[in-house]
Amino acid sequence: MRYLQLALYHKSENMKVTRTVSELQELVKDLNMRPLGFVPTMGALHKGHISLVTNALSECPLVVVSIYVNPAQFNDKEDLEKYPRPVKKDLALLNKVLKEKDIVFTPDDKEIYPTEDKRVFNFGNLDNVMEALHRPGHFNGVARVVSRLFEIVRPDVAYFGMKDFQQLAVIKELVRQNGSRIRIAGNPIIRESDGLAMSSRNTLLEPELREKASIIYKTISEASEMLPVRDIPEIRKYVKKAIESSGRFSVEYFEIADDRELIPVKKRSDMKNNRRYFGCIAVKAGKIRLIDNIEFPLE
Ligand code: PAJ
Repeated sequence: MRYLQLALYHKSENMKVTRTVSELQELVKDLNMRPLGFVPTMGALHKGHISLVTNALSECPLVVVSIYVNPAQFNDKEDLEKYPRPVKKDLALLNKVLKEKDIVFTPDDKEIYPTEDKRVFNFGNLDNVMEALHRPGHFNGVARVVSRLFEIVRPDVAYFGMKDFQQLAVIKELVRQNGSRIRIAGNPIIRESDGLAMSSRNTLLEPELREKASIIYKTISEASEMLPVRDIPEIRKYVKKAIESSGRFSVEYFEIADDRELIPVKKRSDMKNNRRYFGCIAVKAGKIRLIDNIEFPLE
């Protein structure tokens, strides 16, 4: 039995790869190294994901990276079907950075959801603005999988990207509600050389749209410097116009919200001095949805 279990992960040149919960937990237990850092992903890895892994490695003697495309968080069936799954390439990339003791967890649906997960979370306003309005049920699906992964991996620190600004706030709230001691580490957005935020979905963009997509970051960067001279309705109009006039992009939303309650502000005088604000945007580029954000400093 022991032999069979071990055969389920192959120890390649460096890291370990396992598909099962039981084996993952056995490995973690045997290694007994803390703090344990955890980087949950859906694969199709790029430098953004790798930066989370590198940050985890710099703080934790043992790192677990999961690759699992979670059906529960896709509100669009076509998006789930089209989601890239270059498993071999992902493992090769991770193998370059992870050490021999580190673990990649690549479960299937049965390992994650042995019985149907019907939990309904309540994140209040966090699940009632921006992404939540355009992707109903998305954050509930994220919360299901992340809480399940936390239960399996039992990390001390979990690494998430600021790219998914609202997701980060939801995960912090999830941990708070569960009274969990896991520290949630937010990590900066990694961008392509033209400024486009790295995303697994970028590879799905038509070449013409990919070429023009730098307009998104360029515009929100410009907008982030406008606060001293223009009020929010004007800034929002500017962003929409600048991005949509450049071609086949359509702005789903652009909101300036604080990073705790995520309440979109309608005018500058509503902004509180003791908060940090971020301009958050979702753009439809052809059939592909892109999101990004940037801080709007008050001074
Ligand atoms: P995924 O989109 O694969 O992203 C995994 C992690 O990488 C997330 O924390 C995300 O914010 C971060 N990330 C993505 N692009 C980034 C970039 N350009 N710079 C920095 N970090 C970046 O987010 C998910 O998967 C899923 O919702 C998941 C949390 C795994 C639950 O299924």
